[in-house]
Amino acid sequence: MKLPFIRNFTFSAIATAGMNKQYLYSGLQARCHFDIDSYQDALFDTYHISFPHNLHKAVLKRRAEFLAGRFVAQQVLNVLGVKNFRLENGADRAPQWPVNIIGSISHNDDTALCAALLISPAHTVSADTLSAKTSSGIGLDIESWLPVTKVAEIWPNILGKKEYFQLQTMPWPFNQLLTLVFSAKESLFKALYPQVGCYFDFLDACLLNCSLSTGCFELQLLRDLSPEFHAGRCFQGCFNYTDKDVQTSIVC
Ligand SMILES: CC(C)(COP(=O)(O)OP(=O)(O)OC[C@H]1O[C@@H](n2cnc3c(N)ncnc32)[C@H](O)[C@@H]1OP(=O)(O)O)[C@@H](O)C(=O)NCCC(=O)NCCS
Repeated sequence: MKLPFIRNFTFSAIATAGMNKQYLYSGLQARCHFDIDSYQDALFDTYHISFPHNLHKAVLKRRAEFLAGRFVAQQVLNVLGVKNFRLENGADRAPQWPVNIIGSISHNDDTALCAALLISPAHTVSADTLSAKTSSGIGLDIESWLPVTKVAEIWPNILGKKEYFQLQTMPWPFNQLLTLVFSAKESLFKALYPQVGCYFDFLDACLLNCSLSTGCFELQLLRDLSPEFHAGRCFQGCFNYTDKDVQTSIVC
C-alpha cells in the first residue's frame, strides 16, 4: 500500500534562543515527510498550490520536493495570517515572501521544512517596517549526512584549512561535521542573500565554534557583502540532527 504523499506534519517554534539578539519563539516552523513514490501532479490542485511553469521540465523528485516545500510554507503562512498567497521563486530562485514576512524553505530526499517570521501585520506596513525587513533574514537548511566516501573530494570546497583542522579535534565522524558546516553555511546564505542580493561562496564564511552538546554554532563572514554584512561579522545558529540528517537555522 502506498503511503500518503505528506506525512508526519508538525509545527514548532523556531529555535532562536539568544541567536543574534532575536526573541525566543519569534516565529514558526513547519516540517513534514513526503513520499516521492506517492507523488502525482494532481496533488498541486489537492493542496491548492499553483504549479509553476518551469516545473513542467523538472524531474519527479524536483516536483515532489517543491510541492512538499510549498505545502509546509502554506501551513506556516496560514498560521501567520496570510491566506491564499502564491509563493513564487524569483529569477535567482529565492522565494518572494509577502512584504511583512521573512522565511526560508529547505528539503532533502524525504523531509521538507519551512520557517517564517512575521515582521509586522500587513495592514501596518510602513517605510520603517520595510527597511526593518531588508535588514532581517532567516535561513533554514536540512542535509542528509554526506557519505564518508565523498568527503575527501568535497571538503576543500566547503572548509578552509583552519576549519578542517578544527573539525579534526571534535568528537564526531568527519563526514557528519562536514555536513553540519555545509548546512550551517547554506543557512547563512539563505538568510543573507535576500538582504545583500549577491552570491557568496562557502569559503566566504568560516566556522568559529560549534557545541555538539548545546546544538549552537557560530559563523563569521570573511568577505564584505554590504556595509551591514561586512567581513568579521558573526552569526549564531542552532542545529539538531537525526541518524539520517542534520538541520540548521540562522535568524539575523
Ligand atoms: C540556494 C542554495 C543555498 C539551496 O540549498 P540546497 O541545499 O541546494 O537546497 P535546499 O532544499 O536546502 O533549499 C532549496 C530552497 O532554498 C530556497 N532558495 C533558493 N535560492 C535561494 C536564495 N538565493 N536565497 C534564499 N533562499 C533560496 C528556495 O526556497 C529553494 O526551494 P524551492 O526552490 O523548492 O522553493 C544552494 O543551492 C546554493 O546555491 N548554495 C551555494 C551558496 C552557498 O550556500 N554559499 C555559502 C555561503 S557561506
